[in-house]
Amino acid sequence: MLPYEALEAEARARLPEAVFDYYAGGAGDEATLVDNTAAWTRVRLRPRVLRDVSSVRTATELLGTPLASPVLVAPTAFHSLGHPEGELATARGTREAGSLLVLSSRASRKVEDVAAVAGPWWLQVYVFKDRGLTRALVQRAVASGARALVLTGDTPVVGRKRRDRGDAELPLPEEDFLANLEGLTRRELAEQASDATFVDIHWLRDLSGLPVLVKGVLRSDDARECLRHGASGLIVSNHGGRQLDGAVSTADALPEVVEAVDNAVPVLVDGGVRTGRDVLRALALGARAVLVGRPVLWGLATGGADGVRGVLDALREDTVRALALAGVSDVSAVGPDLVAPNRPR
Ligand code: FNR
Repeated sequence: MLPYEALEAEARARLPEAVFDYYAGGAGDEATLVDNTAAWTRVRLRPRVLRDVSSVRTATELLGTPLASPVLVAPTAFHSLGHPEGELATARGTREAGSLLVLSSRASRKVEDVAAVAGPWWLQVYVFKDRGLTRALVQRAVASGARALVLTGDTPVVGRKRRDRGDAELPLPEEDFLANLEGLTRRELAEQASDATFVDIHWLRDLSGLPVLVKGVLRSDDARECLRHGASGLIVSNHGGRQLDGAVSTADALPEVVEAVDNAVPVLVDGGVRTGRDVLRALALGARAVLVGRPVLWGLATGGADGVRGVLDALREDTVRALALAGVSDVSAVGPDLVAPNRPR
């Protein structure tokens, strides 16, 4: 069994079934969920030989933040379902691994408390219909030291997940459900679908004074529109296969977005990244960094902060191995020559 599969199996054994299904599941027939991982393995590599790879560097920098490796923690909701310390454990483990946490708007611990134990972090934002909710959360994040905002653009409504049993089945106390969105009821939150359009990139920038990245971009025209509206970075994502089932896998969408952006801002990618080879593939296709969602949740569920750190450290080590095998001694030197053209499908 691959290490990822073993970790997922261990998390599955520990978590209540409804929680495992909530974390693991995708929308619709889960076609996009499955394709996300499969698509990375379809990307064929062209390793170099006889290079000095006695020391391999994974350290990088993103929007001014130094990182141990180009692997970040994707925003995922409700970490207290996976571990009693919730996002506090995730934040500590992420910091210890030298990575960066993107904190979900649906975190189950307060922004201020997470910030107190976190290393560098960004806030993921939904623009709720009641803009006052978003404004208040963004202002708290700025006051707590968030270094950027990540506007999720792919959630005008929430995708239907077939493994979903409804929020009532999740063992999540009310105060965890609405940790950062006080004054709402669960039902009101469910009705607060995202209300964002391109102009909100500017709105969020003006409101926060922070760089705004847009998450969920899968097309060149959208990428260009985001840049026109002031985005400081793009995240190619299909929400881990949890929104429109049938959407293109992120490995397949990445080259189109990278080409459209033409180095103007960093392009990141998430969805199905499970190994150091996947990290290498993403970088070779033009991503500056990747984010991982479920692997971190499994680390959290099996070992709290240490588990999160363990997952990120293991991915970093696996990236070192992949780079060495490809004949590359520094992540910054990964280029498109490492990918074979005419990828078999
Ligand atoms: C997510 N994701 C997500 N994205 C976001 O912008 N805001 C959020 O609150 C959440 N919540 C969330 C919960 C759970 C349980 C999952 C699995 C995912 C999507 C997430 O940021 C990311 O795009 C995917 O998880 C990446 O795919 P992998 O690494 O999980 O395959």
